[in-house]
Amino acid sequence: MLLHHCTWREVEARLEHGKGIMIPIGSTEQHGPNGLVGTDALCAEVVAKGAGEAVDALVAPSIAVGMAQHHLGFAGSITLRPSTLIAVVCDTVQSLARHGFDKFYFVNGHGGNIATLSAAFSEIYAGRSLHGQGLNSNAVRCKLKNWFDGPAIKALSEELYGAAEGSHATPSEVSLTQYAFPETIKQAAMSPAIAPQGPIYDAEDYRNRFPDGRIGSNPALASPEDGKRIYDTAVGEVAEGYLAFLKAD
Ligand code: NI
Repeated sequence: MLLHHCTWREVEARLEHGKGIMIPIGSTEQHGPNGLVGTDALCAEVVAKGAGEAVDALVAPSIAVGMAQHHLGFAGSITLRPSTLIAVVCDTVQSLARHGFDKFYFVNGHGGNIATLSAAFSEIYAGRSLHGQGLNSNAVRCKLKNWFDGPAIKALSEELYGAAEGSHATPSEVSLTQYAFPETIKQAAMSPAIAPQGPIYDAEDYRNRFPDGRIGSNPALASPEDGKRIYDTAVGEVAEGYLAFLKAD
């Protein structure tokens, strides 16, 4: 169930039966010639929503803008600087912890968020350690789950796309948005078919190295039919991971 579709009384009642919550987190950034600017946020949201339905978990509103400074050379991309994203994650967790939530499962759709999310979790734990029990909440646990890197989803990407999966604007994530939002499907030529690989620094350097925005991928291979398989597999892994997280100490 979506938190933002509940009344406060419904949220309060659910807290009597469980104190876990999923929080989708993505990014709003260019995704190559045929990928949507919202790809990472949309993928995290649809996978979390599906997993939430599968295991009757509460799903918070998405954090739709992430740490994407390297994409700012392309129109439409938006970033939070790492310190801002850390503050957003800390305030979100501490708001929900105040109500009694204590297990926060971040369903992430963007590799560029990983380091910053990990730092945010460290800030949350440091805040508790430095303030003793003064935060008006129980002990909290935070977990990062990338929808795109579980063993089953990686095996499926390998089977479908092999070396053309790449690492940004991947056919897997484009397929997933094509399945979830078929009205948004775009066609575009890819030249070369598989984009170059390389390191990531700042936005200007990124645009020079990766002129159409892709890294190592060929998203022309994407299809909504593949997206359905990717969705089902990702939802299964995320749901299973959430239940394991709830059970863990
Ligand atoms: Ni992406």
